[in-house]
Amino acid sequence: MRLILLGPPGAGKGTQAVKITKKYNVPHISTGDIFRKNIKEGTQLGKKAKEYMNKGLLVPDELVVAIVEDRLNEEDCKSGFLLDGFPRTVNQAKALDKVLENMNISLDQVINIKVDKNVLVGRAVGRRICKDCGLAYHVEFNKSKIDGKCDKCGGELYQRDDDKEETVSKRIEVYLNETSPLISYYSEKGILADIDGQKDINEVFEDVVLALGSKR
Ligand code: AP5
Ligand code: ZN
Repeated sequence: MRLILLGPPGAGKGTQAVKITKKYNVPHISTGDIFRKNIKEGTQLGKKAKEYMNKGLLVPDELVVAIVEDRLNEEDCKSGFLLDGFPRTVNQAKALDKVLENMNISLDQVINIKVDKNVLVGRAVGRRICKDCGLAYHVEFNKSKIDGKCDKCGGELYQRDDDKEETVSKRIEVYLNETSPLISYYSEKGILADIDGQKDINEVFEDVVLALGSKR
């Protein structure tokens, strides 16, 4: 199954991606996670990406597309993949179309997670991430059982640099201007499924599974 998860910052893409990859056994490709890993490792790519990410801006298309193209050509993507946070501009979507065409494959579904703007800020600002395994928690809606530590691996939880309120607002504005046109882009291709992202995490996942139906 070849999928894209679309939705504004804090919509729950990463949270649903963990569940989807587990159930459907496809690799989770998050461009945000790739950049954060590079920032942590201090690579050239990480240094460039950080300048944009900390301001809530998009990393330039040419940096992102090359990374995704390389990743999609890896062996574990042969039987499918889940793209989370890519594409994010119409330009990236067109570049992805070309990459897939060259690989002789096409997308099965784009899942569009819809959440009101006023809910998004609270979701992102209250998010805490495990330093070791990257799992996302929320101080109110998705608490870890051990205070300040990850339930799965015991790693310390931290707040992402771009989850401060001003940066989140900027990211939402960037989403509305640059990413939301992808909703009509994929709707016109007939592969978009809208999902209400304001239900609880497990209910959202049930709706995702329904939308994916018999796709494998
Ligand atoms: P990225 O890492 O992709 O971040 P994002 O798209 O802003 O999305 P988030 O990770 O903030 O949110 P999410 O939808 O995954 O929500 P989550 O599941 O964590 O990108 C970061 C930056 O990298 C960008 O700003 C840009 O600079 C750069 N970048 C990345 N890709 C790029 C690209 N393709 N091109 C250019 N630049 C790029 O959930 C949020 C919180 O809510 C969590 O605390 C969670 O526990 C909670 N939650 C989730 N679901 C629910 C629910 N149903 N009810 C209650 N709480 C919930
Ligand atoms: Zn962890």
